[in-house]
Amino acid sequence: MKKAIILSLVVAELLSAALVCPPADAQRSKKNKEAVEPAVEFSLPSQETREQKLERMKWWTDARFGMFIHWGLYSMPARHEWVKNFERLTNEDYQKYFDHFNPDLFEPKEWAAMAKQAGMKYVVLTSKHHEGFCMWDSQFTDYKCTNTPAGRDLIREFVDAFRAEGLKVGFYYSLLDWHHPDYTIDRCHPQRIDNGTKADYDALNQGRNMDVYRQYMKDQVTELLTRYGKIDIIWFDFSFPGENGKGHTDWDSEGLLKLARTLQPDIIVDDRLDLKDVWGGWDIFTPEQEKLAGCPIWNGEKVTWETCQTFSGSWGYHRDEATWKSIPQLLELLIETVSKEGNLLLNVGPTSRGEFDYRAQDRLKGIGKWMHQNSRSIYGCTAAPADFEAPERTLLTYNPEARRLYIHLIDYPLARLSVSFTDRIEYAQFLHDGSEIRFDEKYIYTPVQKPDTEVPVIEVFLK
Ligand code: GLC
Repeated sequence: MKKAIILSLVVAELLSAALVCPPADAQRSKKNKEAVEPAVEFSLPSQETREQKLERMKWWTDARFGMFIHWGLYSMPARHEWVKNFERLTNEDYQKYFDHFNPDLFEPKEWAAMAKQAGMKYVVLTSKHHEGFCMWDSQFTDYKCTNTPAGRDLIREFVDAFRAEGLKVGFYYSLLDWHHPDYTIDRCHPQRIDNGTKADYDALNQGRNMDVYRQYMKDQVTELLTRYGKIDIIWFDFSFPGENGKGHTDWDSEGLLKLARTLQPDIIVDDRLDLKDVWGGWDIFTPEQEKLAGCPIWNGEKVTWETCQTFSGSWGYHRDEATWKSIPQLLELLIETVSKEGNLLLNVGPTSRGEFDYRAQDRLKGIGKWMHQNSRSIYGCTAAPADFEAPERTLLTYNPEARRLYIHLIDYPLARLSVSFTDRIEYAQFLHDGSEIRFDEKYIYTPVQKPDTEVPVIEVFLK
C-alpha cells in the first residue's frame, strides 16, 4: 500500500513536470501549479471496461518497442526543435527554413527498414510540431511541406513505407502552434512576456481567436485520421494548464478525443490532453526522458505506460549535441522498461535532407543486432511474478503465455550466479545461441567468457 502511494506521488510529480513548458523549468511558478482548471464533465462515445481496453491495446503491450520520429523545419537550424521558442524567433525570422526545406534524400523505405531491423514494431511521426509546420498536404493551411521545395506529401510516403514493413503507424500532433495567427500567445510561446500578467497577455492577444484555432485542429485531425487508412496511435502534445497556460478547455480536449475515437475506434491515445482524471481520457502514460522506479499506479491501478526517450537530448535533429547514449545504455533502458511493464518509444531526429544521422544509424544497428537473437525476452514480456527475486545485477522479464523467465546479465558474472528459485527451473539456455546453461540448487553456471552479445540473456523454462 505504502509502495503504491509512493509510486502515485512519483507519477503525480512526473505529470506536473509534463505540464510546464518542458525546457523552461524556471517558468514553473508555484502559482501555475496551483491554478487548476475545473473538473471535466465527460462521457466517452463507448463505455469501455478495463478488460476491453487492455484487449484493444494488446498489440501495443506485446510490441514493447517503437520508434518516435521528430521531423520538421527545426531540423534545419539543427539546434533543438524548440529553437523558435528558445531564441524567441518570429514567423518572419523562421520563414527562411520554410523557403529552403528540401529533403531530397528522404527515402522512407530505408527508414522503415532501419526501424524494423532494430526490432521496433510501431512508429509515431510528428505530423505537426509546436512550430506549426505541417508534414502533409492539409487543405486548411498553406504552411505545409507541399508548398516548400519538398513539394510532396511526406506523410503519405511515410505511412506507405512503414506499413509495408508491417509496423503500426501513429501520428504525433502538437496542440501548441507557434505559427497560427489565431493561436493565443501563452507562457510557452516564442513571443511570451516575461513575468506577464493575465492582463498583459489579454492585450497581446487582441484579435486572436482560439475558436478558430480549435476548429483548425479538428479539421486537421480529421484529415490525418481519414486520409491515410488505419491509424493506430495519436499522440497529442501537450497541456500546461494554469496562469497564461493552456489546458483541456483551451483545446476542447473532449471534442478532439471524441473525434479521434469516432474516426478510428481502436486508436491508442496518449495522456497529454489534460484529461487525466477522466476514465477513457487517455490510454497510456507517457513519462518523458524518465526511468521510473516501477510500473506507475494511477487511482490505485497499474497503468499502461510508455517512456519516450531521445538518443542525445533534443528530439529534433541536433547537429552539435555530444550527449549520445551508448548501445549498452539503450539496451538496458529497453530491458528495464519491459521489466517494469512499460514500452519504450525511442526517438530519431532525421536531418533536413531526410536521412537518419549516422549516430542514430549506429545505435539502431547495435540494438537490432541484439534484438535479432534476444527479442524473445522483450516481445510479449512483462515484469516477472513478484516471487522471483532478480539475482544481483540482473533484470528479469517474463512471458506469461510461454511461462518463460528471462535473466538479463547486465554485468556479466564471474562463472556463476546465485539464484533463489532454481527449484522452479525445468531447463535453461542462453537465448542468443540456444546453448544449455547448467544449474544446481543454488547457482546457475555461466561460461567464464562473456558471449558475443551485448547483454547476454538466460532463458528459463519454468516447471
Ligand atoms: C515535449 C516537447 C517536445 C517533444 C515531446 C516528446 O512535450 O515539447 O519537443 O516533442 O515532448 O515527448
